[in-house]
Amino acid sequence: MIVLLNGSYLPAEQARISPLDRGFLFGDGIYEVIPSYGGRPVGLQLHLERLKRGLAAIGIPNPLTDAEWRVAVRELGERNGGGDLGIYLHISRGDEGRRLHRYPEGVTPTVFGMAFAIEPPPPAPDRHRQPGLRVTTAEDLRWQRCHIKSTSLLGNVMHYQAGHAAGMHETILYNSAGELTEASVSNVFVVRHGEVATPLLDHQKLPGITRHICLESLRAEGSIPVRERVVTLAEAREADEIWITNSARQIAPVVELDGRPVGSGQVGEVWERAMRIYDAAKYED
Ligand code: PDD
Repeated sequence: MIVLLNGSYLPAEQARISPLDRGFLFGDGIYEVIPSYGGRPVGLQLHLERLKRGLAAIGIPNPLTDAEWRVAVRELGERNGGGDLGIYLHISRGDEGRRLHRYPEGVTPTVFGMAFAIEPPPPAPDRHRQPGLRVTTAEDLRWQRCHIKSTSLLGNVMHYQAGHAAGMHETILYNSAGELTEASVSNVFVVRHGEVATPLLDHQKLPGITRHICLESLRAEGSIPVRERVVTLAEAREADEIWITNSARQIAPVVELDGRPVGSGQVGEVWERAMRIYDAAKYED
């Protein structure tokens, strides 16, 4: 794999970062994963805007211009063979030569990028061929700043691992009020009586780009009612369909929740329609 490190492209095994980098010591950084299919990135400008918001939120100066970020995304894709890739960008606060909690002044951020294979999208969404995911649920025990796409992901990793150890593809999270927040690496949608609903954005959720494109494309197309609102765990248990969304999986249908079938236990027809609408819109920037 070819990676980007501070302006240079080099094989991953030649890339070196200081152990005093605050990304390593504190998880003090911001990251993005941008899906790119055959060299066509999805939602690139939306990803760059979220990256800049994250950097501003934690006081790291944005080291590159949008044009330079775009070049980095393209180069990482091309140098890693094109194809269906997640382009990973990571900016840490950098290395000041010692470990102090306060933000240091005048330290150059570390810029790292890589690319990894993601699931190729099916030529056309087909619910009879689409594998459904099995997921579990857990109370959301992460921090109160989940809207920041921070590289400090231990809370997410622990939730993901709990599901993974139980043979599940994902862990859907709910807060102490029994309201869904998101999942350990994705946002959540539920479908009931034909209405698509997803939790409102706040500090408990990452504003996912796939979620955004899904919502906006469904709203624009108009044939499927869609709402951002409070969604409870109890509702999820009664749902006809559940989807999880992220940049690696697009909109992924869930067929089993905590060992019980979701709706009919088959991938749903609203998913198939929504996926077609999403597919038709996803390359608009
Ligand atoms: N994660 N919520 C969480 C906690 C996430 O980690 C992600 C994505 C999302 C969906 O965001 P988007 O649609 O912009 O990918 C929601 C990436 C894929 C990751 O950490 O690998």
